[in-house]
Amino acid sequence: MTKPVVDYDVKDLSLAPDGLLRIEWAAREMPVIALIRQRFHEEKPLAGLRVSACLHVTTETANLALALADGGAHVTLCASNPLSTQDDVAAALVSQYNIPVFAVRGEDNQTYYRHIHAALAHRPQVTLDDGADLVSTLHKERRELLPDVLAGTEETTTGVIRLRSMAREGALAYPIIAVNDADTKHLFDNRYGTGQSTIDGITRATNVLWAGKTVVVAGYGWCGRGVAMRARGLGAQVVVTEVEAVRALEAAMDGLRVMPMAEAARIGDIFITVTGDVNVISTEHFELMKDGAILANSGHFNVELNIAALEDMAEGKRQLRSHVVEYRLMDGRRLFLLAEGRLINLAAAEGHPASVMDMSFADQALCVEYIARRTERLPVAVHTVPADIDAEVARLKLRSMHISIDELTAEQRKYLESWESGT
Ligand code: ADE
Repeated sequence: MTKPVVDYDVKDLSLAPDGLLRIEWAAREMPVIALIRQRFHEEKPLAGLRVSACLHVTTETANLALALADGGAHVTLCASNPLSTQDDVAAALVSQYNIPVFAVRGEDNQTYYRHIHAALAHRPQVTLDDGADLVSTLHKERRELLPDVLAGTEETTTGVIRLRSMAREGALAYPIIAVNDADTKHLFDNRYGTGQSTIDGITRATNVLWAGKTVVVAGYGWCGRGVAMRARGLGAQVVVTEVEAVRALEAAMDGLRVMPMAEAARIGDIFITVTGDVNVISTEHFELMKDGAILANSGHFNVELNIAALEDMAEGKRQLRSHVVEYRLMDGRRLFLLAEGRLINLAAAEGHPASVMDMSFADQALCVEYIARRTERLPVAVHTVPADIDAEVARLKLRSMHISIDELTAEQRKYLESWESGT
């Protein structure tokens, strides 16, 4: 193995050969990124651009990083979650592609932020974030870097919510494109990606049979819908808890039972939080749960299950298998917490499948190109993804799936544009 010429902090460079093969395997399911990568390679639209990315370090992210690098960008990567890094992928990016990566699976909080600082030391002109930790650290601790930053992108719902709050308070210092809000992102990644990978993570961690279980899904946003849909598909009875009336109504009319968590707590076998909010399941709910209930989170941060409260209530705990900790309560009941309440799909499985990340990361790559090609800076605000990028990603994905669709006839177009003809 040749010695890497870049700065890095990864677990073990000797893991690189496995990482390389797995990156190649993911690439087979990422035809849209492949097309963009090929065009970037020829056109070099990102020549010399310094890009700092804080994303889950997975095979799919590796394919995005390689596309950006082929476009001429200098890419640095750090983890957006302490438990999601695939160490072999991190090693392969460093040793085979000379991409500086700062990410070690299981890193503590201090190391997590040290790695974010290492990515910032690259003096980014464009930031890619998943959860807004990079952007918030840049704004709080490295403000002298702000003048160099043209714009950033944000991958996830939680990050967009944080960034909109920064914009509302006048704290946001550079423009961000909310990739999460593109149709080709949240309708697919959040729904089908989170849906499948959450079930995958819980299954790998526990090997439970879903058929016949009562599964409580907290939150009926796009992620919650996906999780509920897939759990039901496996034969579970799904209960949804919500705080928004319209979403609760949708869940009810999608054929699911809807009730407050205080009721659901008594009947659930498996609880999955996907709300983006804190302490959604807490002491008063743990007190009601059945012996053997399984607790998992698939929201961005590990705040949805009140783990401190669970620790307080427990008289003992033990690690039963990877990603499963048994908490023994005073009355003898046992509750099983998965993956320390962190994103179960990335902690216990491999995150969303490549085919769906193909679309999210195509949006990311095209947004970075959009930022790079602009002659004027975007206004400081949280922006939506340009509609033509969203449409292009959908078109390319359809083409890769060999699906063709109809076009409006001239007559139909005229009809849609007119208002005169009615009943
Ligand atoms: N977020 C969810 N799944 C992911 C994946 N496979 N790669 C990167 N980010 C993700």
